[in-house]
Amino acid sequence: MPRSKIAGIGKYVPERVVTNQDLTQYMDTDDQWILERTGIKERRYAHRTEETTTTMAVEAAKIAIERAGTTAQEIDFIVFATLSPDYYFPGCGVMLQRAMKMKEVGALDVRNQCSGFLYAISVADQFIKSGMYKNILVVGSEKHSFGLDFSTRGRNISVIFGDGAGAVVLQPTEKTDQGILSTHLHSDGESAEILAMYNPGTHANHWGEKNYADFDEAPIAQMFMSHKMIDKAQNFPFMDGQSVFKKAVVKFPEVIMEALLANGYQSTDLNMLIPHQANLRISQFVQQKLKLTEDQVYNNIQQYGNTTAASVPIALCEAWEKGKIKEGDLVCLAAFGSGFTWASALLKW
Ligand code: UT7
Repeated sequence: MPRSKIAGIGKYVPERVVTNQDLTQYMDTDDQWILERTGIKERRYAHRTEETTTTMAVEAAKIAIERAGTTAQEIDFIVFATLSPDYYFPGCGVMLQRAMKMKEVGALDVRNQCSGFLYAISVADQFIKSGMYKNILVVGSEKHSFGLDFSTRGRNISVIFGDGAGAVVLQPTEKTDQGILSTHLHSDGESAEILAMYNPGTHANHWGEKNYADFDEAPIAQMFMSHKMIDKAQNFPFMDGQSVFKKAVVKFPEVIMEALLANGYQSTDLNMLIPHQANLRISQFVQQKLKLTEDQVYNNIQQYGNTTAASVPIALCEAWEKGKIKEGDLVCLAAFGSGFTWASALLKW
């Protein structure tokens, strides 16, 4: 059975840099709070009308495809991870297929938030191993800036997120010392409401108090999106940051060790860990817990904030572009986020 390898990788971040200081125009926050609690100095925001989740994905994908030595027409499957799609439906996979003038290939959308790219790469890996596809484009892209509450009410969430896209092309390899060694996926829906965007949705407050939504009078059924909901800002994401933090610092090391042990490695064998860029403090905690050096963990949340499904491929791409990942290196990708879902992938570059 062939393994899959990352044959090409690309990233795209919008030009517009938004500093912590810039955000103080809209909300009661300050550079020191954001820097100390998250490590973030600045993030990128997409152009309001010229850029979407799909257009950013296209830019990252073009680079990945070129570096893989292939063409958009030769891609035989698309896996697209995002929580900020251009449309509620259809998903961004088909938008990407159209924008890149690809053949009528399958396009799958993954809704696993911060772990989205890891889930996407795991799915693509299985398709390559089974022999079904040979040239899969896997993308993570987010345009968070369009859906955040920029008033003080939303500051615990809004200061964290940024926009951007990352993409890889997976191809089969016959080499025994190269490629994706294993992927590990987990979920625990008990905490679904702790980091979530409840509305618009079909929940109709079924799941309890947290799923708050004020509906307008509707003759037949309650409404998916209402004026009241918008007036009360119930259409923005919710996060209990401390609960997420506490779970993340347990599950990150656990899933990284799971990947290492499954392949007979120790944490000291790792050349590079690419953690989802959720919070610099989380990454530093994981680094200490696994007794890794600073050189073994790549972080760029300082420049880009948390780009959810895009954060792992952006960081992986940047680390590789800077020469921090070389052929034969043992690399672990890991993520934790809304759901909760968490995942890892271990690969030989
Ligand atoms: O990728 C998705 C997964 N998400 C995560 O992994 C996020 C994990 N959690 C975190 O990163 C942290 O919980 C946050 C960075 C979100 C928040 O840090 P915290 O230390 O947990 O702060 P907190 O939410 O407990 O808030 C502490 C104080 C509060 O004020 P009071 O009640 O103590 O007076 C907040 O109102 O900080 C206040 N606060 C802010 N102050 C200035 C919250 N957000 C801000 C802000 N600027 N942006």
